[in-house]
Amino acid sequence: MIIAVDGPTASGKGTIAKALAAHFGLPHLDTGLLYRAVGRQVQLNGDDPDNASEALSACDFADSLLDDDILRSEEVGGFASRVSVHPAVRRALYERQRAFALQDGGAVLDGRDIGTVIAPEAPVKLFVTASVAERARRRWLEMQGRGIAALLADIERDIAARDARDMGRKDAPLMAAPDALVIDTTHFGRDAAIEAAIEAVQHKLSRAQ
Ligand code: DC
Repeated sequence: MIIAVDGPTASGKGTIAKALAAHFGLPHLDTGLLYRAVGRQVQLNGDDPDNASEALSACDFADSLLDDDILRSEEVGGFASRVSVHPAVRRALYERQRAFALQDGGAVLDGRDIGTVIAPEAPVKLFVTASVAERARRRWLEMQGRGIAALLADIERDIAARDARDMGRKDAPLMAAPDALVIDTTHFGRDAAIEAAIEAVQHKLSRAQ
């Protein structure tokens, strides 16, 4: 069973995807990390994320980069969003994601285009979202917890810019697949959102039998 979880940054999709993977005993891939690794590699190369061929060269990053905590930073997230605009970069990362989705027994993948491009045949598709203000608040709290000072207004502006870029790009823009179930976590606590996602998957599965 493939479970596709898409949504904008800080919507809770990663938390939900991890919880679904644990609940249903499936392997999980955070596909944003792949784009973050490309963005980080561009940065290490001293290259320009808006230049398609320089971004493509960064796609041969070493796998060890995926374990680097710096990938979680806001700065690398911004680079990731910029490199992800290039169709050549998306093509370079496609096979790896597709192979993960097709492994025996199934998988949970979270990202922006899992239900639309990477695994459009997935029987379960969730689109997890929340208001920009709420996502900025969560990101701010998370940064506070890690001892990183930041202004809420700056985070809100960055998130809105990232949304606009991810939704506005021509190739595989961020959007809900027509058959995706939308989960708006703006007014949900973490546990309630996870519970709603598990219920949605169980409902899909019971209808498929
Ligand atoms: O989910 P994230 O914040 O880690 O993703 C970082 C960026 O990577 C995001 O702004 C857009 C890009 N991305 C993408 O284009 N397609 C995916 N499947 C996952 C992420």
